Amino acid sequence: MGEAHAYATAIMNRGRTPMEPVDFVPNWADGPRKSKLYRGTDTTPLPDGDYPAHASLQRALDPADTPPDAADPFDLDALGGMLRDSYGVTGRRLGVQANTDLPALPHYRMATWSRGSAAGGGLYPVSVYWVSGASGPLTPGVHHYATSRHSLQRLLTGDVSGRVREALGERAPGPETDQYLVLGVKYWQNAFKYNSFTFHVVSMDVGALLATWRLWARARGMEIEPALWFDEHRLTDLLGVGAEEEGVFAVVPLRWRRDAHRPSAPTATGGTVAVTASDSERSRTVHRFEDVTTMQRVTAGRAADRPAPQDLTAALPLPPDAAGPRVALPEPAPLTADVRSALRSRRSSFGRFDAQQPMTAAELAATLRAAHLGAELGGDTATEPGGPGLTGLYVFVNHVTGIAPGAYRYDPYDPEGPALRGVVDRAGGPFLQRNYFLANYNLEQAGAVLVPVARTHAVLDAVGDRGYRLTNALIGATAQATYTAGSALGLGCGVALGFDNISYAEELGLDARGESALLIMMVGRERPRPADFRYDLA
Ligand SMILES: Cc1cc2nc3c(=O)[nH]c(=O)nc-3n(C[C@H](O)[C@H](O)[C@H](O)COP(=O)(O)O)c2cc1C
Repeated sequence: MGEAHAYATAIMNRGRTPMEPVDFVPNWADGPRKSKLYRGTDTTPLPDGDYPAHASLQRALDPADTPPDAADPFDLDALGGMLRDSYGVTGRRLGVQANTDLPALPHYRMATWSRGSAAGGGLYPVSVYWVSGASGPLTPGVHHYATSRHSLQRLLTGDVSGRVREALGERAPGPETDQYLVLGVKYWQNAFKYNSFTFHVVSMDVGALLATWRLWARARGMEIEPALWFDEHRLTDLLGVGAEEEGVFAVVPLRWRRDAHRPSAPTATGGTVAVTASDSERSRTVHRFEDVTTMQRVTAGRAADRPAPQDLTAALPLPPDAAGPRVALPEPAPLTADVRSALRSRRSSFGRFDAQQPMTAAELAATLRAAHLGAELGGDTATEPGGPGLTGLYVFVNHVTGIAPGAYRYDPYDPEGPALRGVVDRAGGPFLQRNYFLANYNLEQAGAVLVPVARTHAVLDAVGDRGYRLTNALIGATAQATYTAGSALGLGCGVALGFDNISYAEELGLDARGESALLIMMVGRERPRPADFRYDLA
């Protein structure tokens, strides 16, 4: 069995057979910084940009059929706005919730800052670089997005956009451009806490960030088409990062507004110039974990391996079992909130669910629709147009008006309209709580628990080991879409990896279908007026 297959199996079984190093205990006092620190670099503050009120989540999920080359271009305002609303710090979390680190809440040094994107463990390990060529508004170069200061730090001066274009190779998605966002993951920023589990988590975090960008942009007629396949070593070389310390997970080519004063010049290709500035590591001891290093090595990208949409067909989930009783869903509740506002009020529910007032079926229909439509990222992750994507969706209904408690498969393609197909005909509360590892949620109190699945092993067979990053990116994307929909609907939401995957496979009969339950996504009402203190920064 290949190493990515073996890692996928070990991750699914980890609730029963712990992964090495079993005795690992995080050294909290010697943890890394919450984001990279490049000392002595030139810094450019970023604008927050405006965001149109009509750019609703509804539009983001179902954008007008604009040809990609007619999408509105980015400028510095839009780039600043998108970064602020995704990974930029927007405030301080001071609400009382059920996490075990609650006592840290009043201490400034241990403060938790809010961001539009969710991230496993709140660790936000993605480093965002902007490689900007001559058509951009700043001196061309490689810039790092400093999340806490909402500013750009210039790491390299000179137009190296041609190097990114070379790394992307032929058939790369997105527009012809000299402006690229490059997403790296510094493993230690997550591994100091999650060790071998890190690769699984961060590959979802990347998807959550890309989904935030895609929702944010598409709602207002812009486009985000990420590439997950490129010659990764060329980009780690350019960024001056060690390939074992940092993986490059995605490149997003940006259509850029042409400025009459700055004509785009052909850029140099080839060359060996690289970033020499380096991140100042806070931890005195940095550990490497064999599973993470192995997964980085075997999933490292090559442009020549980029799959075509039809290559993914063999890995699509099977259609729902038509033998299950059909439950019709009503018209979904509208998601009229603009994406920026929905992201600003997005947060994890962390124990605040309260089922005294059930969810409505229209709210459930809207959440399922958002989770389904949001489980895609375009670019070179796309399956055949008009057909299904790589993930499927189950839902445990706990407290939804008019729908009997039980587990269902969501069928968005039912010819009579989106519907549920019964899978388990009993209330799921005890099962859900018994199989949740942490103590920060009462899952039974959530209105519903959505469970995205994918045929991870079939994806790996179809496109090779980098398919692991693809599958998990799509799961991260559906998580972010669900969170954003919850926020737009005024519902609580929380997603979690801390559950026993094998029990879910048994309960839902997933093994026979080759599916794995990859995340749980809770939605529902919260206790009215939970204690909070407002501390907005943006
Ligand atoms: C891939 C992923 C996995 C997560 N796993 C868990 C989990 O197991 N348990 C949990 O309580 N929250 C989990 N979360 C939620 C994060 O802890 C949360 O997004 C982060 O702490 C930031 O808090 P916020 O969502 O309130 O902004 C996960 C989020 C993501 C994106």
